[in-house]
Amino acid sequence: MWFEGKGYGKAILLGEHFVVHGARGIGIGIPLKTVVRVRRAPSIAFSVQCGDLLKEATRRILKRVAGDVNFEVWVESWLPAGAGVGWSASYCVALARAAAKAIGKKMENAEVAEIAFEGEKVFHGNPSGIDNALAAHGGVLIFRKGRAPEAVALGGKFHFVIANSGKKRPTKELVEMVSSFREGKPEEYRAMEEAEDWLVEKALEALRKGDAETLGKVMNNNNELLARLGLSTPKIEEIRRIALEEGALGAKITGAGGGGCVLILAPDARKAKEIAGKLKEFEAFSFTL
Ligand code: PMV
Repeated sequence: MWFEGKGYGKAILLGEHFVVHGARGIGIGIPLKTVVRVRRAPSIAFSVQCGDLLKEATRRILKRVAGDVNFEVWVESWLPAGAGVGWSASYCVALARAAAKAIGKKMENAEVAEIAFEGEKVFHGNPSGIDNALAAHGGVLIFRKGRAPEAVALGGKFHFVIANSGKKRPTKELVEMVSSFREGKPEEYRAMEEAEDWLVEKALEALRKGDAETLGKVMNNNNELLARLGLSTPKIEEIRRIALEEGALGAKITGAGGGGCVLILAPDARKAKEIAGKLKEFEAFSFTL
């Protein structure tokens, strides 16, 4: 008998990379999911082909949830992998939930997020924990490493588009690149972190007031900081230009950068659909929070 678990994707609205070093970040759950099904088996087995990292993350999560009980694992995802929208975290969360269901164990979201973090460490080396928190809780969260995430109550509707610029380098590599920048240029990094924290404050105010215009400006400013860290690419900037010319309020790298997805804010649902249409070649889709 198969048991199913789900984990949702995420986009980082503000604070990627800075969250790894203890700053605040804001993330949003997105309505694309990964589904994992498990059934008892003599040893861990996969119904799909997968790499060593996925196998190791699976082993650790199953051990934490079910001890010595083993499973065959089946997975399907609507999220692009390695594109900054939290594929690995959504997998880890879905797997933890499916295994818990299979052995009749009840788990709160906080426990699911904590167990998924074990898998995230296999994929990303030194993750902040923001991806697994969002994959488990969904919604809009303010996050700081090592603390319980806080939900943000929105003062209005926000209309987003996500477009994929294509291949990106692994998160681990990009996190290491920013960590080297931080060590090599501590004063410059400090100034950027302060700027980022100010943007997080402005974004929180805007989210709580339902002020999409301010949020869009904050997203553009955030993209400038990420670009200064070397995380933008010509394709990312092309997507941003098309979106802004079409009337987007803001557009930014989301996640580790170096490729991957761009998060775009539109003034209304109709505009969001239009922008997604213009960015069809980048697998764009729109959604409202
Ligand atoms: O792995 P991605 O691209 O979904 O984003 C991870 C976000 C980072 O801040 C770059 C890393 C982290 O662990 O917070």
